[in-house]
Amino acid sequence: MKLGVVILAAGSGERFGADVPKQFVPLNGKEIWRYSYEVFTEHMDVDGMVVVFPPDDPLVSSESNNFINGGATRRESSLLGIKHLINVDPEITHVLIHDGVRPFITKKIIDDCVDGLESGYNAVDVTIPSADSVARVTKDGAFIEKIPDRSRMRLGQTPQGFRIDEIVAALEHVPEGAYTDDIGILLAHIPDAKIKNVDGSEDNMKITTQSDLIKAERMANKYMESRCFDIAGKKAVVLGASGGIGQAVCTELQKRGISKIYTPSARDRIVEDIVGEIEEPVDIAITCIGQLTKENFFEMAKHSPSSVGGSKWYDEFRVNFLMQLQFLYDVVRFNRLKNDGAFVFVGSSSAYHGRPGYSAYCSAKAALMNFVQSVGAEDISVRVNLVNPGRCDTNMRRKMFGKEDKNLLATPERVAEKIVDVCAMPCSGSIFDIRANEIDT
Ligand code: CTP
Ligand code: MG
Repeated sequence: MKLGVVILAAGSGERFGADVPKQFVPLNGKEIWRYSYEVFTEHMDVDGMVVVFPPDDPLVSSESNNFINGGATRRESSLLGIKHLINVDPEITHVLIHDGVRPFITKKIIDDCVDGLESGYNAVDVTIPSADSVARVTKDGAFIEKIPDRSRMRLGQTPQGFRIDEIVAALEHVPEGAYTDDIGILLAHIPDAKIKNVDGSEDNMKITTQSDLIKAERMANKYMESRCFDIAGKKAVVLGASGGIGQAVCTELQKRGISKIYTPSARDRIVEDIVGEIEEPVDIAITCIGQLTKENFFEMAKHSPSSVGGSKWYDEFRVNFLMQLQFLYDVVRFNRLKNDGAFVFVGSSSAYHGRPGYSAYCSAKAALMNFVQSVGAEDISVRVNLVNPGRCDTNMRRKMFGKEDKNLLATPERVAEKIVDVCAMPCSGSIFDIRANEIDT
């Protein structure tokens, strides 16, 4: 058996309704279609691959000979993909067709599909059980005709696998009809085809509407965790290491075998001087500095200039936002962070919601989050990500809020673990939220 793969990414994403087709929306800084593309690329049994894109897409002809234009319908796109595969390699005998908007396909599911095809079945289909009952309705949808036995109902996913000759004949000859996938078309052509059922998974979800994206973002974080690399022997700089989260981060870095940690003091210093203390290029830079003052905006804004300049409000914004950006700029500019090094900002869950008395802090953290999403997706030499801890049991917080129920607070150790994990992830422009007692991935 010689196996080709077609990834379908030529749809326009009507139901998703964004400016760009959904397959190009970034998840953790990586476009959705690239997730499954990488999993198939890494799979040993795959001998050829093609991705079909919408008309005029700049990826076609630019990056790879295996990026082509799809058709007006899913069916046309499948056929164009297969034709390209066999054009490039006429010896390909079987094909897996996968929706490019199912990013979390696993090696295991692909293995099972390959097994099914190797066993000689006409086709393989990936399905999951349905949690809801399935109802069959009349043509006009006005009445229920039948409730089929749920235990025998499955929801269809992809990939779907075929013998090349059979699927090409089916796609070419079966008249247009209410087919939503290639298995439906094959069955119309070969009614007694033996189609092996392969267990899919909830994670192998299809992104159809905007609400699917929220689940996909969580899944993408989990996916990144599974791809963490080893950071033992690396060097790091941690800003704001004197207490709270910063201190816990240093302990966690040591636990993971970091060979050297620079911890320059940040208080009342300009960033260029701070960065000057880092004696060599490091692999990881983390900034945990933060300043939290409770005061209404109009009170805070009128105060006399603080030690460094501007009003108290300005100073709060400077420490929580501007200084952090400057730190990123300077470690890269002065070559203190290596190429492909990790830069992690520590923000706050308050980025998502402004709170009275904390206008400067919350808005600075929201700005930081948008900054990371923007710059992390730009063409830069380092990976830039943000961890937003929820309420965390630190001195800074105890001073502001007094004694709180510990169960509602995340420990600095837990937050530090996540921050260090993120240093070891191959992503950029990603936001990781942590809630109390639960790492929210
Ligand atoms: N697809 C394709 N070519 C088409 C139509 C769809 O390659 N002419 C692909 C989509 O890019 C997607 C997969 O088929 O990866 C599943 O289709 P669907 O979820 O319906 O995506 P869209 O057709 O883009 O979305 P919508 O139906 O909401 O417009
Ligand atoms: Mg569609």
